[in-house]
Amino acid sequence: MTDEVWQYEGYEPAQERVRESLCTLGNGYFATRGAAPECTADAVHYPGTYAAGCYNRLTSTVAGREVENEDLVNLPNWLPLRFRTDGGTWFTPDGTELLSHCQSLDLRAGVLERESRYTDVAGRTLRVRQLRLVHMADPHLAALRTEFTAEGWSGELEVESALDATVSNTGVERYRALNSLHLTDTEAGAANPDTIWLRCRTTASDLRIGMAARIATPEAAIEVCNEEWRAVQRFRLRLRPGHSATVDKTVALHTSHDPAIADPLGAAVDRVSHAPDFPTLLDTHRMAWQHLWQKAELTVPGDAGRILRLHLFHVLQTLSPHTADLDVGVPARGLHGEAYRGHVFWDELFVLPYLNLHFPEVSRALLTYRHRRLGAARDAARAVGRAGAMYPWQSGSDGREETQEMHLNPRSGRWLPDHSRLQHHVGSAVAYNVWRYWEASGDTDFLHTKGADMLLEIAQFWADSATYDESLRRYRIRGVVGPDEYHDAYPDAKEPGLDDNAYTNVTAAWVLERALELLRTLPEPCRRELAERTGLDTDAPARWEDISRELYVPFHSGVISQFKGYEELAALDWERYRARYGDIRRLDRILEAEGDTVNRYQASKQADVLMLGHLFSPGELRGLFARLGHPLDDEIWSRTVDYYLRRTSHGSTLSGLVHGWVLARAKRADAWEYVQEALKGDVADLQGGTTGEGIHLGAMAGTLDLVQRGLTGLETRGGALWLDPVPLPELSEYGFTIRYRGHWGVRLHMRPGRLSVRVPDSDRAPIDIELPGRTVSVAPGESCELALPHHWQPRSS
Ligand code: BGC
Repeated sequence: MTDEVWQYEGYEPAQERVRESLCTLGNGYFATRGAAPECTADAVHYPGTYAAGCYNRLTSTVAGREVENEDLVNLPNWLPLRFRTDGGTWFTPDGTELLSHCQSLDLRAGVLERESRYTDVAGRTLRVRQLRLVHMADPHLAALRTEFTAEGWSGELEVESALDATVSNTGVERYRALNSLHLTDTEAGAANPDTIWLRCRTTASDLRIGMAARIATPEAAIEVCNEEWRAVQRFRLRLRPGHSATVDKTVALHTSHDPAIADPLGAAVDRVSHAPDFPTLLDTHRMAWQHLWQKAELTVPGDAGRILRLHLFHVLQTLSPHTADLDVGVPARGLHGEAYRGHVFWDELFVLPYLNLHFPEVSRALLTYRHRRLGAARDAARAVGRAGAMYPWQSGSDGREETQEMHLNPRSGRWLPDHSRLQHHVGSAVAYNVWRYWEASGDTDFLHTKGADMLLEIAQFWADSATYDESLRRYRIRGVVGPDEYHDAYPDAKEPGLDDNAYTNVTAAWVLERALELLRTLPEPCRRELAERTGLDTDAPARWEDISRELYVPFHSGVISQFKGYEELAALDWERYRARYGDIRRLDRILEAEGDTVNRYQASKQADVLMLGHLFSPGELRGLFARLGHPLDDEIWSRTVDYYLRRTSHGSTLSGLVHGWVLARAKRADAWEYVQEALKGDVADLQGGTTGEGIHLGAMAGTLDLVQRGLTGLETRGGALWLDPVPLPELSEYGFTIRYRGHWGVRLHMRPGRLSVRVPDSDRAPIDIELPGRTVSVAPGESCELALPHHWQPRSS
């Protein structure tokens, strides 16, 4: 294992799903799990191929109710390649004949390599080495090279290669009771013996898929033996001791979403026929990765650095420059598995701030995905009698609410109503990303057009959601769910929803304030046009001003209350539950299985109030609270942090990340514990079996941003780079480059007590850097080295 190679020695069936997720290869357009090509889906293996934005809707019956779900479709499997000697059984790693197995993921090159040694019944050993890529330069191509070596024997090897549409969406155990057959009208064919193809479509979205595979093999005559759902090629290789026989499978994938094609199948056959040989594909693929790494350079020593590099690799595979050409959002679990059905949540809040400083064109495309669905968000607001736009908690193809109506508690086996759609705070996440994207990129065109549409409509929704309470003399937003999904109702309440969620209200106030700022600064013709387009009436700004200052933020015992009445909930006996269950991250499931409900307790799934310390710098947060009429000093914040730390089970991978960030910003010695939780979330599958169902993209990107913005305090406002570094002794040296307002490759390097900044040569203006109490200007082609004051010492918790 090196910094750049992620390696798994030996075959461990129990670990296979996690490894498949972590060894997924993708290019933003599509991705394929790191499954063994000789295996089909079973209890151990789950090959899966997903194209960004390719969804289908199915109806199922659960607990006597008809429910509809939209899923990211598991597309035909292009991997199949199996082999056997003398008509024996096909080799698989689950047979007894596996002598050795090693899998390594080369992050620099984006290549998955596998070497296995098998013995057949006659005692003959076969070495199989495979190289796999999903092409980063041509997003429609993938390739698999297989080298077979007979160790000390001669004979024939029978090989079968296929494109397999007998797949379904069965990668997540909890969804097994649901309909999973998304593909229909399959047809298999061959353009010539070397090139087979498969076409099919999705049942409801009528998305047409064309896939073609070309085989290159040294000597063999290829026989095409197609079946209804599988395009199949068979051939025999003559093996000689000491010589390798190489088989290259090149695959092309097109769907009817693709621009500039006549039909998906024709395009796939054409593309694969013209694709160069494997070595050339490998070269161009490597070069594309090299360019990506240059734009996202990150150096962090040690184990943390190794994991961060893996996180970066998976972020880039899910959201690459190719994403900028697509109409897709940020899938919470990457293109790596089927959990959360490929849906888009507020998780983009943890992803875009990282991308803004490397691939702003990708951020813009991801925001445009939201803009295209503004109409659906408007309709959703109207449907609940409100103005403006209400973005869905889970979004898929057309922007309607995709949150499941029922979810299964695997502990109790019960299907329960899912009220997480009441997390209207997702709208604030969209607005936040619009604003931060503009701050980082300076893309005023976007802010003044699509960005303004979204920001103003989200502000309108918040303003219309707020009702004035005479007794409190405050505006209230009622009936919502905050980021902590454990609390979706008051104990014994008939209706779901909570009142005055602090996170929702403070972010709503921030959105209203930004909308007002935008209206103030918009050029007059833009402002008029926008007002007409969004139906904004003339007294809206005055109302927004009022609401943004008068939204209610509950407090109790000197801390910010997560929502009104939180303090009246029962205290949970955490020690008892820990002693009884060990891992209590999913306390909600434990309590429900006991016939109880987590709604009764002061117990949160993840950071809720504390999310505010992740989104806003201390200065911004103080300003926001002051505007709302509450002084927020370090003491109140510190008490609030301690209060919720003791009451959070971290049932989401986002929780460790946010806590690590907030504690690091507070210079607390316990920050590292939480940062580690965020770093290890997927590589150690800390949420008990969830990584095998897909990576946690928000947490992965969030850890990158923790280094980029969390530790450095980096902000991009007022045309300057603001830095306010905090120490994290366990991660005291790191460096990265950013792309900032036309400067490519601005490099920041941090060492204990010192920060250096280098601006690459260009004809652009110098960059102003604001540090606490100091301003420096660094011209292109220059570097500067800054000493950091000694008071940046960590505090004990
Ligand atoms: C978390 C949400 C998150 C979702 C998708 C849930 O477990 O509670 O905050 O958006 O996962 O990642």
